[in-house]
Amino acid sequence: MNGRIPHIVQYQGSKRLLASHILEYMPRRFNNLFEPFAGMAAITIAASKQNRAERYHINDINEPIVCLLRAAIDTPSDLVERYTNVWEGQFHHPMGHIKHFYHIRDSFNADEQTAENMLYLLARCVKGSVRYGKNGKFNQSPDKRRHGVNPQKIAENVHAISALLKGKVSFTSLDYKQILEIAEPGDIVYMDPPYQGVSSTKDNRYLAGVDYNAFSSSIETLDERGVDYIISYDGECGDREYGNELPVKLNCTKFLLNAGLSTQATLLGRRDTTFEALYVSKSLVEMANLIPKQTLLVGCAI
Ligand SMILES: C[S@@+](CC[C@H](N)C(=O)[O-])C[C@H]1O[C@@H](n2cnc3c(N)ncnc32)[C@H](O)[C@@H]1O
Repeated sequence: MNGRIPHIVQYQGSKRLLASHILEYMPRRFNNLFEPFAGMAAITIAASKQNRAERYHINDINEPIVCLLRAAIDTPSDLVERYTNVWEGQFHHPMGHIKHFYHIRDSFNADEQTAENMLYLLARCVKGSVRYGKNGKFNQSPDKRRHGVNPQKIAENVHAISALLKGKVSFTSLDYKQILEIAEPGDIVYMDPPYQGVSSTKDNRYLAGVDYNAFSSSIETLDERGVDYIISYDGECGDREYGNELPVKLNCTKFLLNAGLSTQATLLGRRDTTFEALYVSKSLVEMANLIPKQTLLVGCAI
């Protein structure tokens, strides 16, 4: 990958650091890249930096997230100006910057789900982790040690992203299944659904969870229609595995990507490496020279 991949803001589960490895499983050039679980759209941004697709489709069920991505790509100067106002407000709040965070969070939950409020909440909250309560309200706390990314840094990144993607992206905020229906042979669908909770389909780290059986059936229909896909799904760290594997009947191969040393294990004095699973559709696997050296092939077609 040439140069640094710009990103808007921290986002829990972001694939930014794995993006260059994930891109190695895609052809040099293809029609459309669909990202139905976009989050901060790390793979779309990385792919556009290498000019890999004709067009891109960014979708996430969380509407303010898509609103933020659209603003960053289509109207970056306007977003930076509005973010700067929100960000600077923390230094003028009579009761300090923490209270300012809660004030913006309250406005967001009341009705002001603007791109700049979403951006500020992500920039300031703990680990960029969006969390919602049962009532659907954003309830993540601020990271008290930080003020959030300064507007200059945001400006550098969003202008870089806009230069790569403006005019090439369609945006939607729908359930992922509706996006899979519009993908065709010659396109690639990259999917990074939310981390699979123990048994529940609800994950309060995001707005919605994804049911395992429904997800597997949707992938089966992609197989039947000859649409290529890449999925980040389960993984393992040390002797611990997390998440269920996708079912054997799917026409794809599982690879493990080395995601580096686990910070949590390091804190506990262990040196465990985290591996993230990547499921790659059959015809992508069959393409020559597709298996990068830095990944570990863990099995034949599952
Ligand atoms: C692990 S994050 C994706 C992170 C992303 N790959 C990145 O690099 O930033 C999963 C995303 O899926 C979204 N999501 C959850 N359920 C969804 C659904 N049913 N349809 C579409 N998006 C969904 C969440 O809002 C969240 O942003």
